[in-house]
Amino acid sequence: MTGKILVTREIPEAGLRVLDEAGFDVTVLSEAPPAREKLLEAAQGAEGVLSTVTETVDDEFMDAAGDGLKVVSNMAVGYDNVDLGAAKKRGVVVTNTPGVLDETTADVAFMLLLAAARRLGEAERVLRAGRWEWWGPKLFMGPDVWGKRIGIIGLGRIGQAVARRAWGFGMEIVYHNRSRKEEAEKGLGARRMELNELLETSDFVSIHTPLTEDTHHLIGAEELEKMKPRAVLVNTSRGPVVDEAALAGALAAGSIFAAGLDVYEEEPRVHPKLLELENVVLAPHIGSGSIETRDKMAVLAAENIRAVLGGEPPKSPVEG
Ligand code: DGY
Repeated sequence: MTGKILVTREIPEAGLRVLDEAGFDVTVLSEAPPAREKLLEAAQGAEGVLSTVTETVDDEFMDAAGDGLKVVSNMAVGYDNVDLGAAKKRGVVVTNTPGVLDETTADVAFMLLLAAARRLGEAERVLRAGRWEWWGPKLFMGPDVWGKRIGIIGLGRIGQAVARRAWGFGMEIVYHNRSRKEEAEKGLGARRMELNELLETSDFVSIHTPLTEDTHHLIGAEELEKMKPRAVLVNTSRGPVVDEAALAGALAAGSIFAAGLDVYEEEPRVHPKLLELENVVLAPHIGSGSIETRDKMAVLAAENIRAVLGGEPPKSPVEG
């Protein structure tokens, strides 16, 4: 295979090896992330593009690539950065990397949940600043996690991996999802409920729904208002699912206890009010960022390109 492949970011070597061994002419952009102009210039003549969430792959991008473009392989499970309509009208196949990052992302969701509940960020900041004076009977108290109710919004693969962790913590699992998940109901005792009931009754709420028109600002001021005063909200899906300004308001007012976030409305910008608050743990979109998982994502993304350009069905096409 000889086609030109654009890899928009530096990715783990394992993925590049797949493309090199297939004989492609591979260009990797080293700027993190590439400026739009450079990206469009580099896309010219590409038959395959390996993109990430930091690139908007839209009409303009596909026009710049030209008629030879056959596949956009997004190295992420989410693909809200790719315009599926633009791809469809050009016959461009879009693929993503589901399945390989579920457990890793669930680890980060649970890490944020624990850290937000037990105030790890705030406590560590005090210790590092040399302001920790003594053990204290009331020092950095937060709610227990074990035995509490967790409400999972979106019980897909990642949501279910979070549910398995919650089960290990003896938590009661409730979920809100378009379809019933009988396996999780049988295996983990998960119970399906309407969003409002989940918000009103859960001690922890973890979001695992993709970003679509329907889920944009799914959690806003009204929904936050419904949550318990000691509730903790965790978001590792996509930033715009939560109205960040409303969340900052709820956290500042103490109408919920804390939040743990890995994703933001306008990455890498974080709402300035969130940065001022002690009761929110902030991670820079590292949900799938284990060494093993990023290798697997890069390999799967590369294999999808190889398959499409080799005339075979891709392993994980996005249904547009
Ligand atoms: C995903 O896979 O969608 C993660 O957010 C990383 O981009």
